[in-house]
Amino acid sequence: PAAKPLAGRRAIVTAGPTAEPIDPVRVLTNRSSGKQGFAIAAALAELGADVTLVAGPVALATPLGVKRVDVETAREMLAACEAALPADICVCVAAVSDWRPETEAGSKMKKGADGPPALTLVENPDILATLSNGFPRPKLVVGFAAETDNVEAYAQAKLAKKGCDWIVANDVSITGTMGGDDNAVSIVTPQGIERWERTAKSDVARKLATRMAEELS
Ligand code: C5P
Repeated sequence: PAAKPLAGRRAIVTAGPTAEPIDPVRVLTNRSSGKQGFAIAAALAELGADVTLVAGPVALATPLGVKRVDVETAREMLAACEAALPADICVCVAAVSDWRPETEAGSKMKKGADGPPALTLVENPDILATLSNGFPRPKLVVGFAAETDNVEAYAQAKLAKKGCDWIVANDVSITGTMGGDDNAVSIVTPQGIERWERTAKSDVARKLATRMAEELS
């Protein structure tokens, strides 16, 4: 039926931050709210897709009809995405921590005469790049680029570097984008750049889901 153009399609959406343990009580994380990713999962489900939402730690309700998998670390997020394959669509919205502490202390680190501990960081897997270059590759892989300057130029470079099909670029220097309810995005594809007016994250999500359905039809 026309109203459910994604019926029979499988989608994976990552959302929220990741939290990388330092010790049993401390984590390395970021300010992602998860709102845009949750809105995209909801919009894809509304169009009939079978959606797995892989969520980092956020305080948001699970959208209607969406299968949610809660994770904490980048490595858990990647494993949950791979477990949800095969998929037609993959949208990586999560603000994945680029690094994690090399080791997790087994017990709470204590203040002491030695002064503050040195944190050694190691690189996390890039989930978007891994899924874009892996097997089975979803037909449509979409990434996000949150930048504070040269947004579109960085997004075009990111498209090539990650191997995804589209990059949704947004300027997070605009007050309120991170954690807020509105977003102004540009859709960057190998064919060009399309700029969308600032609007509610739920609108951005519905427009994106509709575009994805057109792409797969
Ligand atoms: O390289 P950068 O972090 O700016 O790229 C952002 C895009 O890559 C987002 O779509 C984000 O979800 C994804 N990403 C990822 N795994 C990482 C880092 C970023 O999936 N480790």
